Amino acid sequence: MKRLQIFTLFFLEGFFLLLLQIHGSAAATLVENDKQALLDFAAKLPHLRALNWNEQFPVCNYWTGVECSEDGSRVISLRLPGVGFHGPIPGNTLSRLSALQILSLRSNGINGSFPLDFGNLRNLSYLYLQYNNFKGPLPLDFSVWKNLTVINLSNNGFNGSIPYWIMHLNQLTSLDLANNSLSGEIPDSRLPNLQFLNISYNNLNGAVPKSLQRFPKSVFLGNNDSLLEYTVSSSPIVLAPRDENPKSKSVGKLSERAFLEIVVAVSVVGLLGFGFLLFVCFLKRKKEDGFPGKLERGGMSPEKAISRSQDANNRLVFFEGCNYAFDLEDLLRASAEVLGKGTFGIAYKAILEDATTVVVKRLKDVSVGKREFEQQMEVVGTIKHENVIELRAYYYSKDEKLMVYDYFSQGSVASMLHGKGGENRTHLDWETRLKIAIGAARGIARIHAENGGKLVHGNFKSANIFLNSRQYGCVSDLCLSTITSALAPRIALAAGYRAPELTDTRKATQPSDVYSFGVMLLELLTGKSPVHTTNGDEIIHLVRWVHSVVREEWTAEVFDVELLRYPNIEEELVEMLQIAMACVVRVPDQRPKILEVLKMIENVRQRDSENRPSSDNSTPIPPSPGV
Ligand SMILES: *[C@@H]1O[C@H](CO)[C@@H](O)[C@H](O)[C@H]1NC(C)=O
Ligand SMILES: *[C@@H]1O[C@H](CO)[C@@H](O)[C@H](O)[C@H]1NC(C)=O
Ligand SMILES: *[C@@H]1O[C@H](CO)[C@@H](O)[C@H](O)[C@H]1NC(C)=O
Ligand SMILES: *[C@@H]1O[C@H](CO)[C@@H](O)[C@H](O)[C@H]1NC(C)=O
Ligand SMILES: *[C@@H]1O[C@H](CO)[C@@H](O)[C@H](O)[C@H]1NC(C)=O
Ligand SMILES: *[C@@H]1O[C@H](CO)[C@@H](O)[C@H](O)[C@H]1NC(C)=O
Ligand SMILES: *[C@@H]1O[C@H](CO)[C@@H](O)[C@H](O)[C@H]1NC(C)=O
Ligand SMILES: *[C@@H]1O[C@H](CO)[C@@H](O)[C@H](O)[C@H]1NC(C)=O
Repeated sequence: MKRLQIFTLFFLEGFFLLLLQIHGSAAATLVENDKQALLDFAAKLPHLRALNWNEQFPVCNYWTGVECSEDGSRVISLRLPGVGFHGPIPGNTLSRLSALQILSLRSNGINGSFPLDFGNLRNLSYLYLQYNNFKGPLPLDFSVWKNLTVINLSNNGFNGSIPYWIMHLNQLTSLDLANNSLSGEIPDSRLPNLQFLNISYNNLNGAVPKSLQRFPKSVFLGNNDSLLEYTVSSSPIVLAPRDENPKSKSVGKLSERAFLEIVVAVSVVGLLGFGFLLFVCFLKRKKEDGFPGKLERGGMSPEKAISRSQDANNRLVFFEGCNYAFDLEDLLRASAEVLGKGTFGIAYKAILEDATTVVVKRLKDVSVGKREFEQQMEVVGTIKHENVIELRAYYYSKDEKLMVYDYFSQGSVASMLHGKGGENRTHLDWETRLKIAIGAARGIARIHAENGGKLVHGNFKSANIFLNSRQYGCVSDLCLSTITSALAPRIALAAGYRAPELTDTRKATQPSDVYSFGVMLLELLTGKSPVHTTNGDEIIHLVRWVHSVVREEWTAEVFDVELLRYPNIEEELVEMLQIAMACVVRVPDQRPKILEVLKMIENVRQRDSENRPSSDNSTPIPPSPGV
């Protein structure tokens, strides 16, 4: 039944793609016109900060500040706040974006008069031009702007009177004309949907029209006092609604579940806490350094016995569906080996007597209490997806926090790509790299769908990606950033895979995951580490390096030489590079969502395989399972 549904879904998805391709060419010319309009605009209006508006990239999804309609046929939103534009808006540029709905050029140094050709923007709904140096009158008749919902022209130098048409916009919910030099009387108005008004600090006089007398006097301050001579009518003011992040609500339920699982675990695991403690003590004594060792069996010192009784309440908690047959006695007999030191602690490989191999991760700097820890483990442990490495079990005590994972013999993508100290690189062909990217994107998409669409990975990097049995990328180490304080900002920055905004706010977000994902794509494409040194000891930051190469000249120089051996993949490489660049855009809001990224990556091969001769023996990559 379920299979059938998924199959149907795939079928529909294919159909949709086909439709897109049929309509593709007409849409392409329209959006190319929009692209040209934007290029003209940027070329004619000087700006202090560079825009990543590279002609070679498609305008949708890649260019800073630009958003397109869903079908990618038109530019519908342009937001370029604080770019340092100075000078007047060049004529016949933005006005060609006739499908534009949102325009924000706030907080720049734009001067000159209001661009009259904006009258062409008939679908404009949101206009933000505040904090510029516009001068002169507002346009006399823009009643063509039927869809205007928000107008913010505050903090400019507009003068003349408030035009009649502004006061008769049916859809208008917010009007901010504050701090200009508008004069004359406020025209009679009919703004049925107006919720926010500010026309303070102008040179207005006369009386406030009846329909606006429901607003408090503060919105008329700083004009001729005659404006303040009305008594506020009793109808309430509704301010424009603000987004408020609804709090996640899964917490209560989880603890109940966690409790149940603990009960189950207790009955199953029985006395294992005892043995486990020895394991823990062993790990402790090994003092987190890189020596392989053998987990000991045998006697217990009085000291350990005491801490055992303290830890009596703490048990290894296995997750549902975990079919490991080992217990902690078995773990004691296992040989252990340090796999690596990660951001959140040290990972050990433990090989049990029956050859079962697991990874035990020992967390450091856990900053939350037991309850919160368990809740977070519960969130992580219930994610079951072929591209997310399952958490099998965890352990919490005052002194030790452990997580048990499956072991992946091939090592992480980081070790395959970069080896250790530049040695032992695994040969990864393009096919495999594509599958790594697709798998990892599916894993992240699954994580981002969790917890009401709010869950964040928080520490995505190639060292946390492994290959599953089908050689697709598989994501590990998720969601630990909320329970540890291990990420000192400076270290994080030096790591090179963390989004730049995380140095200010330490809280990882979904967009910062997308940034880190983009860095991993760059690693796959270039074969280089996020931060590496050249022969001359110069520290190279991968994202900046790729930017500089791309900016200077479009060459194949960015790509891993290993990849250039394969014929006919250059287009795919370039396409993937563009996707990566979209992910590592500096402004978090402008990065694509992971689902969009996933679609784009899947398209790299799908589209391509249609153009290819059938003699090509590359395996097609099946579409994504629903997330
Ligand atoms: C304006 O928006 C409407 C509805 O979204 C759309 O049908 C129409 O094509 C748009 N006009 C232009 C010029 O894009
Ligand atoms: C706009 O500002 C620029 C300097 O940024 C100045 O050279 C120019 O004269 C100004 N134009 C107008 C119309 O004020
Ligand atoms: C603009 O308004 C018209 C008429 O109210 C409506 O049909 C159209 O969908 C609106 N366009 C947008 C982009 O909202
Ligand atoms: C009005 O705008 C100017 C700059 O345009 C700014 O310096 C001033 O603080 C603003 N005044 C108010 C009351 O916001
Ligand atoms: C608006 O300001 C300009 C100078 O920037 C001036 O020439 C014009 O007379 C002013 N208009 C009004 C109505 O004050
Ligand atoms: C207009 O811009 C000002 C300054 O950025 C801001 O304080 C105000 O809330 C904005 N008004 C609206 C309606 O967006
Ligand atoms: C209205 O605008 C003025 C000037 O920018 C500002 O000082 C004031 O706080 C604003 N009032 C409201 C209610 O936004
Ligand atoms: C304020 O308005 C009153 C009445 O409209 C007018 O007599 C007076 O001159 C105005 N004051 C200023 C400073 O414009």
